[in-house]
Amino acid sequence: MSRKKIIAGNWKMNMTPSEAVKLIETLKPLVKNEEVDVVFCVPAIDIIPAVEAAKGTNICIGAENMYFEEKGAYTGEISPGMLVDAGVKYVIIGHSERREYFAETDETVNKKVLKALEHNLTPIICCGESLTQREQGITIDWIRQQIKIAFLNVTADQAKTTVIAYEPIWAIGTGKVATTEQAQEVCGAIRACIGEIYDQATAAAIRIQYGGSVSASSAPELFAQPDIDGGLVGGASLKPDFGAIVNYNK
Ligand code: PGA
Repeated sequence: MSRKKIIAGNWKMNMTPSEAVKLIETLKPLVKNEEVDVVFCVPAIDIIPAVEAAKGTNICIGAENMYFEEKGAYTGEISPGMLVDAGVKYVIIGHSERREYFAETDETVNKKVLKALEHNLTPIICCGESLTQREQGITIDWIRQQIKIAFLNVTADQAKTTVIAYEPIWAIGTGKVATTEQAQEVCGAIRACIGEIYDQATAAAIRIQYGGSVSASSAPELFAQPDIDGGLVGGASLKPDFGAIVNYNK
């Protein structure tokens, strides 16, 4: 089974709407690669101009978060229906920064995953261990727990369409990329876990990204690993380097 690579930028809280349009104009010619699905996950306020700027290109626009209710008295939140209507295809769920600063839990991640799928949004489901957890040797146990809760009540057919992003917290924004062996080991364990929850066909279909200080120089080796199907890229997605990351195989 060959899985199409998926390389997504996570802009985090960067770029005003007008800056977003300029950045997309700059990156548009650089991120062409038919062998890769290319996604820009942008701040909520940038979504509408970003969708417009990306029209007619191979760039899909994603959101960085959403709420798990349809609508109502949830001041400040954005619903899946709003994202779909705006032209969004992907949504990052449970990024470690959301877990750390905005009290998201495995349980809210699961609710968001179910809600995104109900609306045909592809969730990019984040998991990852802290440095302490890695040093304690509990990385795989921790990640398996995150995955098992995130996928509660998700059917096999739905699971096949999702994307998982393995992002060791100690590698995010630190310039300290995981070694290829570390990244492959955990991505392989995630695929095995999906195989246990569902079956081999589901495990073979699901796409698993690595994220955490991915750069143009580290991408080729990381993305060549058997269980790594692309990357979730923060800092380097705001620069022309992102073009080189998307074209890691050229
Ligand atoms: P980074 O961020 O590439 O800047 O480490 C990755 C992420 O948080 O998704």
